[in-house]
Amino acid sequence: MIMNEKLLAAEKSIEFIRNGMTVGLGTGSTVYFLVSKLAELIKQGLNLKCVSTSKQTTKLAKGLGIEITDINLVDKIHLTIDGADEVDPNLNGIKGGGGALLFEKVTAAASEKVIWIIDSSKYVKLLGKFPLPVEVIPFGSNHLFKRFFEAGYNPAVRKIGKENYLTDSGNEIIDLQINKIQDSVKLENEIKLIPGVVEVGLFNNIADTVIIGRENSTEILNRI
Ligand code: 5RP
Repeated sequence: MIMNEKLLAAEKSIEFIRNGMTVGLGTGSTVYFLVSKLAELIKQGLNLKCVSTSKQTTKLAKGLGIEITDINLVDKIHLTIDGADEVDPNLNGIKGGGGALLFEKVTAAASEKVIWIIDSSKYVKLLGKFPLPVEVIPFGSNHLFKRFFEAGYNPAVRKIGKENYLTDSGNEIIDLQINKIQDSVKLENEIKLIPGVVEVGLFNNIADTVIIGRENSTEILNRI
């Protein structure tokens, strides 16, 4: 059911794409459906310039015949479509479950419009049940871990097997289990100011539109 909701949201987002646009492609299993559909449309003649938010998406897109342009070589990004891990009624969210938060935030910040595509389980009253990813440089990261532990944020270093997970930029991720984030803007600012933190997976005031896949339909929420 969740996969079907992801598919519905991804298909709906295609309606926002116009011929000639430069489009930012997010990362994750919901974006997989978007990229697959876009590949079909591009083969049928849709003209798009695409930039990617991760090695994973670049590999997927190229494998399906979509050309990826370096983000530094485009003048503007008209629209970025991405997934999210949690979204609240203010359209603030947690992202980075797939580890691509840094490039996703940079791409979103450079985009004229940002759409998130999610299944209905991700729409929540309060952010924080999903572990909040914090991307940190490896140098001194044990000290950041200690600091997060002492702050009561229940940190966990993201691992792949026994090794620390590394992002596309070669950084580590510390996931924080905060459960209830009362003020996501305050928390984002607090964490981002800590030396060694590269990015935090709180995406405040970034999404313009959120498309929620529901059982057999979609719901569209717009930032007011
Ligand atoms: C990757 C992300 C993804 O957008 C987020 O994890 C959602 O993924 P999925 O669509 O697979 O549920 O932020 O860094």
